[in-house]
Amino acid sequence: MGFDTIIKNGSVVTATDTYTADVAIANGKINAIGIDLPAQNATNILDASGKLVLPGGIDVHTHLDMPFGGTTSADDFETGTRAAAFGGTTTLIDFAIQYKGQPLRQAFDTWMSKAASKATCDYAFHCIVTDVSGGQLSEMNDLVHEGVTSFKLFMAYPGVFMLDDGSIFKALQTTSKNGGMVCMHAENGSAIDVIVQQALAEGKRAPKYHALTRPTTAEAEAVGRAIALAEMAGAPIYIVHLSCNDALEKIREARDRGLPVYAETCPQYLYLSLENMDAPGFEGAKYVFTPPLREKWNQDKLWNGLKHDHLQVVSTDHCPFCFKEQKEMGRDDFTKIPNGGPGVEHRMSLIYSGGVASGRFSANRFVELVSTTPAKLFGLFPRKGTIAIGSDADLVIFDPKRKHTISAKTHHMRVDYSMFEGIEVTGMPDVVLSRGRVVVDGDKFLGRAGQGEFLRRATYAQVNG
Ligand code: URP
Ligand code: ZN
Ligand code: ZN
Repeated sequence: MGFDTIIKNGSVVTATDTYTADVAIANGKINAIGIDLPAQNATNILDASGKLVLPGGIDVHTHLDMPFGGTTSADDFETGTRAAAFGGTTTLIDFAIQYKGQPLRQAFDTWMSKAASKATCDYAFHCIVTDVSGGQLSEMNDLVHEGVTSFKLFMAYPGVFMLDDGSIFKALQTTSKNGGMVCMHAENGSAIDVIVQQALAEGKRAPKYHALTRPTTAEAEAVGRAIALAEMAGAPIYIVHLSCNDALEKIREARDRGLPVYAETCPQYLYLSLENMDAPGFEGAKYVFTPPLREKWNQDKLWNGLKHDHLQVVSTDHCPFCFKEQKEMGRDDFTKIPNGGPGVEHRMSLIYSGGVASGRFSANRFVELVSTTPAKLFGLFPRKGTIAIGSDADLVIFDPKRKHTISAKTHHMRVDYSMFEGIEVTGMPDVVLSRGRVVVDGDKFLGRAGQGEFLRRATYAQVNG
């Protein structure tokens, strides 16, 4: 039996097991796992002694080439997937936006054309649904058949993305039947808008007011309401970018009652806090994203939530805008600062470092949070998200000891600042493979635009029973 590649002597880590073995790859798939696999049968040998062999990371929340707030996010599908690969992430689920009055198909076609010739790693889409007054509810069923099996709805951004509760309920009834998943941006947008207008009237215009006008109660209330609507519809629900303990409590209570309720948090909520918004001058704009940064004490609660499975996934909500040219748009008015921050490159290292190297949870739990559960919830498992015979050979040879100081000077994202500037992480990818091909080797990128494939996903119900 000939193999294309054998990764030798690594410590293979899945969500459930850790063991020393060789992993052999043929035709882009994992073909054999064993001790002393015959090296003479392989074209390429990669030595992973002293290293971890991980399933490639899956980031289920990115916004590449996204028009938003009067500009467009700075990474496109080429630069964004390249940066992801440097960080050990080999699959992205991005968001195709349906604008009001449009069919969902138009959103899907538009985002396919943004990604197809550019993506360097595999990708899929959630569809953002902003209007269900036409035939969009039945179109949700059509998209599910095309492999777009999850839908993001907004309870915030009135007049732009926000849906009313009746529309949300109808969309949840639809996923309850078609097996898909609703991903909810949960903040009470109507109340927030009142607070924002009052702040502006009082002359409060600095970036920090973005955070101060979006209280944790507005997030917790919306999370609770989203859960109630999902429960009434008999649908699962996934809360995106959960930022604070008040909202986490709602998830914990719902899960304790046995409801199919899931939530992700992001590295920015685990590492940064309201204090970052006190940066001098206009620098606080670097941290303007939604939900906003919270008081520091929330960080430990979120780490604890990851450990105890009150939170199931870490994504990035990567939505980069350059500080000089784009964040600048809101210099005199925080409401005009494009919302979003860059993070796709450093998720794996930040979570390994803060989670495993710091002793908060096991390497297996780390894999579960950044790869396996994302694959299961979003219909990619077992093709992605694990190391098993027949799975795609999306693999990371990860050095658990290597230290790295994050900086915009060295990162690969197309943005002129890092939210995590100066933070030292322990644990970095050495070699990254996408469907058996080495795409990153140290500081060299060996992938190419267009080699990423669109992933037709199964439904939540098909994978999770
Ligand atoms: O500020 C953020 N999070 N920007 C991206 C859009 C969203 O709501 O996820
Ligand atoms: Zn959102
Ligand atoms: Zn987002």
